[in-house]
Amino acid sequence: MAEAASKAFVTGHPIKHSRSPKIHGHWLAEHGIDGSYEAIDVAPADFAAFLATLRKNGYRGGNVTIPHKEAAFAQAGRRDDAAEQIGAVNTLWFEDGDLWGGNTDAHGFAANLDDHAPGWAANGPAVVLGAGGASRAVIHALKQRGVSDIRIVNRTLARAQELRDRFGAGVTAHGLEAIGELLSDAGLLVNTTALGMHGNEGLSADPGRLPSHAIVTDIVYVPLETPLLAAARSRGLATVDGLGMLLHQAVPGFKRWFGVRPQVTAELRALIVADLAPTP
Ligand code: ATR
Repeated sequence: MAEAASKAFVTGHPIKHSRSPKIHGHWLAEHGIDGSYEAIDVAPADFAAFLATLRKNGYRGGNVTIPHKEAAFAQAGRRDDAAEQIGAVNTLWFEDGDLWGGNTDAHGFAANLDDHAPGWAANGPAVVLGAGGASRAVIHALKQRGVSDIRIVNRTLARAQELRDRFGAGVTAHGLEAIGELLSDAGLLVNTTALGMHGNEGLSADPGRLPSHAIVTDIVYVPLETPLLAAARSRGLATVDGLGMLLHQAVPGFKRWFGVRPQVTAELRALIVADLAPTP
């Protein structure tokens, strides 16, 4: 008897704008795998029940996105180290009978910079704008890669302070007013806030305050070139957009569910870029 097709999912609420099915669908086709990856909209009230029926419904695992990442963290039977550090789960899989929760966002962030700005981790102090869930993943990646001076800047200082206390040595917390001075000797500027997305004002971080060797990256990828990245580019600074983080965070999940470690290629990137283009 033929083995049943491998099934995986992405769940969020809403979920219809997720690019993950396109990414995983591309890899399934590329590797000729008899599998599926489907988007499933699950309301917060139904999330626990959804998890409880995964195995019965034949899923190997899947991705979890907003607003379920913290609930997935709480409900996973086992968690990997990245999930523990970040406090959120974006990837689920079954292993030795347990439902595991992992977090691949930090991996995605670091791998994107490895691709487009090799040597980034040794470029000097990092300034991180924002203190939400995405910021936690970025800070975890920075710490893992040995960045020893991480400056969190946030509108609400208390949230930055919480992250400083969570991540400990080498991490400092600041309000927005400190940004000019913090940028003056930084080697990396990371925006993790929604500022710069469609309909949002660009941030008051002026990349012109950065030294000329600095790298600027935004985890926002709609638009691909955010106002911050555009300003940095016009100053001649190296810039890295956020799309590569999305692509790379998908790699470990695919490997767990389908058994093959897929590549982030120019072809995959072009496929998703075409999908991001506004339809007339
Ligand atoms: P995510 O999980 O995507 O990181 P989040 O937890 O809602 O989302 O965090 C959003 C981040 O963007 C926060 O750092 C938030 O600042 P506050 O902690 O002060 O709310 C930041 N942010 C959102 N809108 C902002 C704005 N208009 N000006 C400055 N910062 C903003």
